[in-house]
Amino acid sequence: MQHIDIKEIFVNPDYLEQIVTVCGWVRTSRNSKTMAFIALNDGTSLPHLQIVIDKASGIAFENAMPLGTSLKVTGKVVAGQNGSVEINAESITVLGTCPAEYPLQKKRHTLEFLRTMPHLRGRTNTFNAIMRVRSVLANAIHAYFQSKNYVYVNTPLITGSDCEGAGEMFQVTTNGFTQEYKTEAEYYANDFFARKAGLSVSGQLEGEMAAMAMGKIYTFGPSFRAENSNTPKHLAEFWHIEPEVAFAELSDVIALAEDMIKYVIRQVLETCQNEMQFFNQHFEKGLIERLEELIFHDFAVCDYTEAIKLLQESGEKFQYPVEWGCDLQTEHERYISEKVFNKAVFVTNYPKEIKSFYMKQNSDGKTVAAVDLLVPGVGEIIGGSEREYDYDKLVSAMQERNMNLDLYSDYLDLRRFGSVPHGGFGLGFERLIMYVTGVQNIRDVIMYPRTAGSIR
Ligand code: 4AD
Repeated sequence: MQHIDIKEIFVNPDYLEQIVTVCGWVRTSRNSKTMAFIALNDGTSLPHLQIVIDKASGIAFENAMPLGTSLKVTGKVVAGQNGSVEINAESITVLGTCPAEYPLQKKRHTLEFLRTMPHLRGRTNTFNAIMRVRSVLANAIHAYFQSKNYVYVNTPLITGSDCEGAGEMFQVTTNGFTQEYKTEAEYYANDFFARKAGLSVSGQLEGEMAAMAMGKIYTFGPSFRAENSNTPKHLAEFWHIEPEVAFAELSDVIALAEDMIKYVIRQVLETCQNEMQFFNQHFEKGLIERLEELIFHDFAVCDYTEAIKLLQESGEKFQYPVEWGCDLQTEHERYISEKVFNKAVFVTNYPKEIKSFYMKQNSDGKTVAAVDLLVPGVGEIIGGSEREYDYDKLVSAMQERNMNLDLYSDYLDLRRFGSVPHGGFGLGFERLIMYVTGVQNIRDVIMYPRTAGSIR
């Protein structure tokens, strides 16, 4: 259908005084004695385009007024108020009518209400802005890694090995309910893959294999976790960015994470000015300033042991007790990043018992070369580490966890055939979007959130 994106009408002055055709959905409309006005939005732009109808022209416009109606409008682009442009309509075609029960009426709806209609909420200003920032962030992530010689790899989503070992894998099976098999082994032997399979919680293990050939790689795809945690920052299906770098130590991983986060945020601030103003106004006052601060200052780095001391000496009443060896909860992460440092903080060198088998064991025998990035407002957005590249140490860490070494033979081979120091991290894409937009619930930054007890 021949038409022009509404965004182009706003940004390209060549359209002024030209006759153009635009399409879109009616966001608001009003009727005065001699004129009618329609705010039209086609999704390419946060601001709506005002369509002005001179009633004396005889254009049939009554069916075009209900909110949600889809239209094709031809008319002349003219200068409007506030330096913006509008269209003096010459013809209007109703593409799809919209009855009065259309749920997105003019008032401001709550995010909870909008969550009940994932198929329509994209037509609100809030979701228009979130989806565009999401898209720009995704593009910026690719641009960052591509510009630095990283190879984009696609790791499998169906896997036979559990990367994080936290027992959060969704099972993949075609067998369904049956009492045919006497034992678990028999059941899986007869299943589609002839062994137990699941949806991957992380592409890291295969990412490491790619990095041992290509040097620097990144993945950007979905990860799945059957965590039964009904929190504002957990999804059962989330998008995961996982760079993996050969010939790298923990300090290289930290430097990469900081540089990448700063780059992508700079891109969003430049490209999505309307959207960021919108979030600044409606979601978090001072958001833009906070992000600008982030770009211009170094992130803090704090050893886990030091973080525990800071929490214990804080005098705060935490719901979860703090002692060396405990996993940091969101309340602890937020205290460290918001109250102690008031900026992004890398917490490093966690106790080995609370981290995964693949992390490099430090010489103290108690900690591993792990790193989490904690940010104000969200908590952890990145988890990463230097990897254990010594074959014997890796095997003993796996044995301590009673892991079946046969399932990890490819991974162990990497430590036999030209092993090198290497490391990487995982960034939760939705958590990054929350941080950048100030939106507080992860269900509001993805089109169709999947959480325990809820799928649509
Ligand atoms: O800290 P995690 O579990 O680390 C890994 O998966 C490593 N294999 C990454 C690596 O080193 N390549 O997860 C990494 C990040 C977290 O910091 C968080 O941002 C995000 O993934 N994440 C989730 N996001 C939304 N919902 C969930 N259930 C998430 N679980 C992890």
